[in-house]
Amino acid sequence: MTNSIESLPTPRHPDPSDAPSLRWGIIAPGGIANDFTDAIRMHTRQKVVAVGSRTLERAAAFAARHGFERAYGSYEELVADPEVDVVYVASPHSEHVAHALLAIAAGKHVLIEKPMAVTAAGARSIAAAARAAGVFAMEAMWTRYLPQTDIARQLLADGMLGDVEVVTADFGGAAPFDPASRLYDPALAGGALLDLGVYVVSWASFALGAPEHVFATGKLAPTGVDAQVALVLSSPGGGQALLSTSLLAGTPSLGTISGTKGRIETDAPFWGPSGIRFQSRGGTELHWVDPYGRPYRQGMSYEAAALARYISEGLTDSPLHPIDEAITTLATIDEARRQVGYLNVAGGAQ
Ligand SMILES: NC(=O)c1ccc[n+]([C@@H]2O[C@H](COP(=O)([O-])OP(=O)(O)OC[C@H]3O[C@@H](n4cnc5c(N)ncnc54)[C@H](OP(=O)(O)O)[C@@H]3O)[C@@H](O)[C@H]2O)c1
Repeated sequence: MTNSIESLPTPRHPDPSDAPSLRWGIIAPGGIANDFTDAIRMHTRQKVVAVGSRTLERAAAFAARHGFERAYGSYEELVADPEVDVVYVASPHSEHVAHALLAIAAGKHVLIEKPMAVTAAGARSIAAAARAAGVFAMEAMWTRYLPQTDIARQLLADGMLGDVEVVTADFGGAAPFDPASRLYDPALAGGALLDLGVYVVSWASFALGAPEHVFATGKLAPTGVDAQVALVLSSPGGGQALLSTSLLAGTPSLGTISGTKGRIETDAPFWGPSGIRFQSRGGTELHWVDPYGRPYRQGMSYEAAALARYISEGLTDSPLHPIDEAITTLATIDEARRQVGYLNVAGGAQ
């Protein structure tokens, strides 16, 4: 039997600028916090009202750059601010659990940069605390909220691919070796898998669910963190994912999902706004190119708007990227890091 359609499904993402406005506080004014703040200012009604840094000077400089007033010289003061509804945790991976728990203990909702924690155990501790406190918690896996991802979601749900058998994704970026940088320092949970590999493992989870078996081979950096890793995941139904991540070489950043009736190929990058192609076994080829004009990290505006909607609807977990899926993704990464000989997986930061 063949499978053909005349046009791709329309992305069902609501306009980010229509989402209810929340007051955001930011933990850690680094690179991604800067881009996130720009993205939501450009495309949403979300308001960053306060920032906390380990030093007041950095907090004040960030607040001045983005045009708001409240800057704190500690994360504790930031989470205690009664005018903050939701805290964006934008510190290095190694600090995510401590900072998320700090915000949750203060009764705040949290958006936690990827990876949510360094290990599945760490992510479970965030999930347990958020559930006990009744607050919303979400990993910032922004790919899930992009328009192109919703096209893929609909094609999968409508059975247009048939049984999913082969999934591929790569994410590599050449980062010069610097033992002190967060990408290579084991104390900051460096390595390709946690920084970039989380996207490819999450892509496999999106198409196939949690794997039954994980096979990983890799190469370590001089600091003992993984410099690059290739993974094969197999699902209980026999579907397979072939994934790679690297800090040594830039790779195309493409994602594919192939099934018995058709396949999806993303444009580059699969993890940010780009485009998507569907090819049916019957020969239909359709291509969708993102027309919304929110390039690169401006695409984070979709996840922020989704979170604002979920919170206003009284949800405590994301329907498109539940916390339990962030936990199983980290369980896969735990196992891959163990197999490649990553320094101190069990005893390291959570
Ligand atoms: N979604 C995406 O596309 C994306 C892209 C890049 C990064 N990220 C994620 O965002 C997180 C931060 O990455 P980044 O590139 O923004 O890092 P960054 O530029 O190095 O900023 C991290 C900030 O964390 C604070 N911090 C707290 N404890 C620290 C410690 N022990 N060592 C160093 N800094 C510490 C620092 O701010 P203060 O000292 O001023 O408090 C620092 O400016 C990572 O988890 C990463 O995976 C996501």
